Amino acid sequence: MRIPTRNPTTERTVYIGLAHLADGDAVKVVSGSASVALARGLATAGGGTFVETTYEKHPGGFPDAERYVRVLGALAGDEVVLVQSTHPDPKVVELLLLIDAVRDLRPRKVSLVIPYFGYGRQDKRFESGEALSAKVLAKHVQVGVDEVLTMGLHNPEVLKFFDIPAREVSGMPAVGRYLKDRDIDFVLAPDDGAVRHAKEVAETAGKPWDALRKTRLDSYTVKFEPKRLNVRGKRVAIVDDVISTGGTIALAAKELKAQGARHVLAAAVHGLFTANAWDKLAVCDEVAASDTIPSRATKFSVAPEFAAAIRATR
Ligand code: R5P
Repeated sequence: MRIPTRNPTTERTVYIGLAHLADGDAVKVVSGSASVALARGLATAGGGTFVETTYEKHPGGFPDAERYVRVLGALAGDEVVLVQSTHPDPKVVELLLLIDAVRDLRPRKVSLVIPYFGYGRQDKRFESGEALSAKVLAKHVQVGVDEVLTMGLHNPEVLKFFDIPAREVSGMPAVGRYLKDRDIDFVLAPDDGAVRHAKEVAETAGKPWDALRKTRLDSYTVKFEPKRLNVRGKRVAIVDDVISTGGTIALAAKELKAQGARHVLAAAVHGLFTANAWDKLAVCDEVAASDTIPSRATKFSVAPEFAAAIRATR
């Protein structure tokens, strides 16, 4: 059963319910090495067939430390879902190779799932002479592909850089599912930009939500406090679309602890954890992220969201 609904808080499409990738012929799911666990989950969630790929060169291959892929199954006439995040850099090259390998096996249709659209955050030229990385990636990974699905874009406008159908799927219901059975009193947005995420997560988790208000006390001091709810003695979850350097979450968590929060859980769809993010995040009692970028924080999957989104257009 599929029930696509328009989420009133985000204006992004959210897919609810158990969905299968296809009613008739099984969809084949192929993955790059950045996204194997998610792709396997997607095949399971959608009733598709996972097709193995090797990323290791055979002993007689070119000894040049370059990427290599070989899809180990037949795809002729099939609908294929190809899954690969474009992060870190070598995974981009691997994706380009995979698209070529998949196309050469003559599938009927290729849907590209990019769980984390690496290079997607530079969506404009801020300085003269800069590359517009989101556009560069879009223009190159779409070649040989029929449609693109991605998640948690910094700016949904980057979808316009694709010349083929491209959609953004919300990962917030997955965060909400993870928090639903957790001992959490409420969900908090670390800033105004994350309010729509907190609302969406809270809706799925069935918890109240609030946002932190930033007040400047003097030139050097900024204070954060929840706008409505009192955190003293409470167990709270701070939610965001992405944790990058960990600075945003760490600052919020520190304030919440100072205000008496008993337990602070940080949850995001994408966990990049760049630089010394883990040192900063030590202030949190728990950090959780999805499988769009596998890491030690990966605790839940967005496979059901992608499975439902793919099925919704069949
Ligand atoms: C901001 O627009 C995003 O929603 C995140 O809050 C931000 O990217 C997190 O970055 P960091 O972990 O470096 O503070």
